[in-house]
Amino acid sequence: MCGIVGGVTDQNITPLLLEGLNRLEYRGYDSSGLIVLSKQNSFERARSVGKVSNLEMNLKSRSKEINGKIGIAHTRWATHGEPSSLNAHPHISKNTVSVVHNGIIENYLELKNIQIKQGYEFKSETDTEVIAHSIDSEMQLGSSLVESVQKAVKSFEGSYGIGVISSKYPDQIIAARKGSPLLIGISENGNYIASDQMALLSKTNKFIFLEEGDIAEVKLDKVTIYDLDGKLVNRPVQKSKLKAGQVDKGNFNHFMQKEIFEQPQAIRDTLESRITNDSVISSSFGHKADEIFRSIDQIQIAACGTSYNAGLVAKYWIEDIAKIPCHVEIASEYRYRRPILLDNTLFVTLSQSGETADTLEALKAAKKINNTLKSLCISNSAESSLTRLSDLTFLTHAGPEIGVASTKAFTTQLVSLALLMCSIGKLKGYISRRQESEIVNGLKKLPGLINEALLQETQIKQLAKSFTNKNSALFLGRGTMYAIAMEGALKLKEISYIHAEAYPAGELKHGPIALIDKNMPVIAIAPNDELLEKLKSNLQEVKSRGSKMLVFEDENSKVQSMDSMKVIPITSNLGRISAPIIFTIPLQLLSYHVALSREADVDKPRNLAKSVTVE
Ligand code: AGP
Repeated sequence: MCGIVGGVTDQNITPLLLEGLNRLEYRGYDSSGLIVLSKQNSFERARSVGKVSNLEMNLKSRSKEINGKIGIAHTRWATHGEPSSLNAHPHISKNTVSVVHNGIIENYLELKNIQIKQGYEFKSETDTEVIAHSIDSEMQLGSSLVESVQKAVKSFEGSYGIGVISSKYPDQIIAARKGSPLLIGISENGNYIASDQMALLSKTNKFIFLEEGDIAEVKLDKVTIYDLDGKLVNRPVQKSKLKAGQVDKGNFNHFMQKEIFEQPQAIRDTLESRITNDSVISSSFGHKADEIFRSIDQIQIAACGTSYNAGLVAKYWIEDIAKIPCHVEIASEYRYRRPILLDNTLFVTLSQSGETADTLEALKAAKKINNTLKSLCISNSAESSLTRLSDLTFLTHAGPEIGVASTKAFTTQLVSLALLMCSIGKLKGYISRRQESEIVNGLKKLPGLINEALLQETQIKQLAKSFTNKNSALFLGRGTMYAIAMEGALKLKEISYIHAEAYPAGELKHGPIALIDKNMPVIAIAPNDELLEKLKSNLQEVKSRGSKMLVFEDENSKVQSMDSMKVIPITSNLGRISAPIIFTIPLQLLSYHVALSREADVDKPRNLAKSVTVE
């Protein structure tokens, strides 16, 4: 969502803050800002609406450089208060305290009313300003900066990851987290804070991941951490395997394009050490995985967006092949229902970031409902709130995904879910050795098959032009391809802003067929499976209503191409597991090229953030 970066160094901090903001921009970007403490211990702040490049221009246009050795910065994705310079962070209280904040203070109106009575003047419409004033009011009562933060956070309801500096304490940044990730970067030239390690990779690969409720005092040569109860704690310093270069576009025009093309390697990396020649290593889900998998009788998956679509595909696999009942639910709904969770349930969260607030809360809610349940998180982030809260963790090894539209995270989630299905089915006795070997061999072929599908890019780019002026599109599929159609529709709408919907093709005649006319293109996926003939009939129904159709098929499906129906064979002989993964590729390429043809900002679509850490 929003991004935080800050640091105490022996050099000018401004270039590091700007670099960090650029690297964090993918998380949210309707405005950005930074503040440093000058030599004279006064605040120097710059804030701009729009991209970080606007902030850079703002800084360049100033007669006097913003220069100091301690500072904090923020990219904002608006929640409370419109995107504007006044609402952009950092916020200041009485020229003494300045704060950057990720998360939402839910009781901010209540606190604001108290603070107005205390004489505080509010300059923004944000919830964050109450944080600055709360800390300042504690300082006025005589507490030190760190004590003031410790006292202030007790009055906050909601979530926060904050960085705080004060003109009265020019040697330190205070960092605090609850519900929003925050880490500390350690280096010889200084210490830093950030909401995401990517912001700091050019400076260090050594990180301390703050835990829920932690408050840290970060100085040039020392970091002190207190837990929720104010006790001094030691948190381990961990070495990140990520490299700054991994988060560059390389020879590609956009991160999304790069990440689409990285999928063969991402899948190889996800499979590595998780399979042998012909079997799945179930202990790669954790050392207790075998015991847990043997004991479960059902699976509940909770996730959001693309991750939810991956869960829908898995439901078909898990019930069809591993014969375990499986339910999939949108996490933001799940957390507010009173679902029935039987004993022996494996609760699976899927999340690229591992920080999605709704998914995290769904897991917490599930644990409250039935404290015997076992949990597994499939995530692309090793150190995340979700992985910390789960009994088992499986990392997707997709590498950093920067494009807001998820691509390689989705296909690697599918591969991970196939491994999960296979492990559970095997341990429960529903998947034979022969079946397991077939599944594993099918998975090994995926990188080659994806490379084959990627060869269609030139043709898809050409076809994308016919979507440039469309307002809506319909995606059709049956079985797992319905879930893939949902993912295709989500991709198209989020980056090209074309309204897109997905339907199971058999459902068309129950309503949505009324939408079909020559202005409503239909995209269908036609694998060569037991539902193919049914799908062909559905396509006839669409054709006779005058729609232009685009069909991605298995070569053996033999859907007939005609004027109103362009058929693109993707590859042949795809199995139940490989088909949904491979048919995802042309849909990703289609949405990417449609978005480009509409001159949309592919990597940073409007109103969206990569990781949604607020409700
Ligand atoms: C995908 O293209 C989206 N940007 C979005 O739906 C995303 O998948 C969703 O917010 C969940 O994120 P997570 O996987 O990090 O939990």
